[in-house]
Amino acid sequence: MTSPSHQAPNSLEARDRRALVHGLTNLSLHLEVGPKIIESGQGVWVTDGDGKTYLEGMSGLWCISLGYGQQRLVDACAAQMSKLAYYHLTNHKAHPAVIELAEKLLEIAPVPMSHVWFANSGSEASDCAARLCWYYWNAVGKPEKRKFLSHEKAYHGNTIASASLSGVAYAHKGFNLPLEGFLHVRKPHFFEDAQEGETEAQFVARLLAELEARILSEGPDTIAAFFTEPVMAAGGVIVPPEGYFDGLQALLKKYDILLVADEVVTAFGRTGNMFGTTTMKLRPDLIVCAKGLTSAYIPMSALLINARIFDAMAEYSDRLGIFGLTMTYSGHPVSAAVALEAIAIYEDLEIPARSASLETTLLGGLRARLGNHPNVGDIRGVGLLAGVQLVSSREPRRFFEPFVGFGARVAALAEERGLFVRAIGDTIAICPPLIISEDEIEMLIDRLGQAVETAAAELDT
Ligand SMILES: Cc1ncc(COP(=O)(O)O)c(C=O)c1O
Repeated sequence: MTSPSHQAPNSLEARDRRALVHGLTNLSLHLEVGPKIIESGQGVWVTDGDGKTYLEGMSGLWCISLGYGQQRLVDACAAQMSKLAYYHLTNHKAHPAVIELAEKLLEIAPVPMSHVWFANSGSEASDCAARLCWYYWNAVGKPEKRKFLSHEKAYHGNTIASASLSGVAYAHKGFNLPLEGFLHVRKPHFFEDAQEGETEAQFVARLLAELEARILSEGPDTIAAFFTEPVMAAGGVIVPPEGYFDGLQALLKKYDILLVADEVVTAFGRTGNMFGTTTMKLRPDLIVCAKGLTSAYIPMSALLINARIFDAMAEYSDRLGIFGLTMTYSGHPVSAAVALEAIAIYEDLEIPARSASLETTLLGGLRARLGNHPNVGDIRGVGLLAGVQLVSSREPRRFFEPFVGFGARVAALAEERGLFVRAIGDTIAICPPLIISEDEIEMLIDRLGQAVETAAAELDT
């Protein structure tokens, strides 16, 4: 990024700046500073163009759950490409890999599910989930149930509907979003949003009362569904407090509002169970999966649909003459073959149980190293998903002003020390590949610890 060879006109860095658009990036700044180019990966490690290695503490974008260099996935991909590189699912066609994958997902589903719809990314699958909610309510003669509820700071994707479901300003500003009828309610973030002296139970009761008031003011007959992540990842690794989801689900039942669980980050072992739905005791009508489904080796997402919705879809499509949702690559055989092999690996390596048992190593280790640091306010998480929230003062609790950029500084210092983590404001997100060893977790904690200590020392200078 800085050495003279990276400035040469024919360097990869210069070519990147001339040709590529990068997401979640200041594009003007990127034209100046260029990219860090990652060239290879093995296990939990990646190597950049200068030969420097980094512990991939974020699984890329919360996705490469089985780490790099999984030969079984490479072989499954090659074998399927040789046998049947492509087929589609329209007009009554199918192929073996996708049938087997749908059956497997229904077998491991955390609540009874009836059928599976496939797409190519988490955004698309969230988008399809919203479409299916509308289709369902039209099918059963309640077309006025059209609005969606989701949390502030939720992330459900970046297509027009899924960005509208997302509760983050960066997905909206400048893009004429969110669309009308996509409503956001307070996030269940006790550490950040609890009032002075409020207990967790009081906080939960307040949020649920606010939610019920919102449902009533909007009109329950106008609300199609509530979308939630079991643990809110990109919003800052927010683990909803005890009782929140029970109360939320009681309200949804009372007002006949569907529940969509966005398991794009949490499915396939991340939280200590195969699905976050189990960990957080959810009873969703639809479950969105992506990322870990193929361990990011190839794009694919899946939407698990319960019988209530599927039966209505089947009947309605008969009345309309067709189920009009289609995508060229829905259920792509190569992606399906890789997903089947990924699930086989999750099962063979007992990955969910592994995440559950390594929770203490990760969270306990972070607490031992950083729990008493004056700039660490909260360390939270579940399984192998953790957030370290940085504060300007613990007692009394004071958050940094955004212009300080403390979280970003910590992430940059971690990167200098060979560790990739993500700063979400001042929360450092940690989501390593699920095959990480205890030694590697300790290395991760040590490098992050050094980064926090160095950033804090800089504050004093
Ligand atoms: C919870 C959640 N839902 C949906 C998405 C969107 O998935 P994709 O980026 O594959 O479109 C993401 C991506 O980070 C996510 O974290």
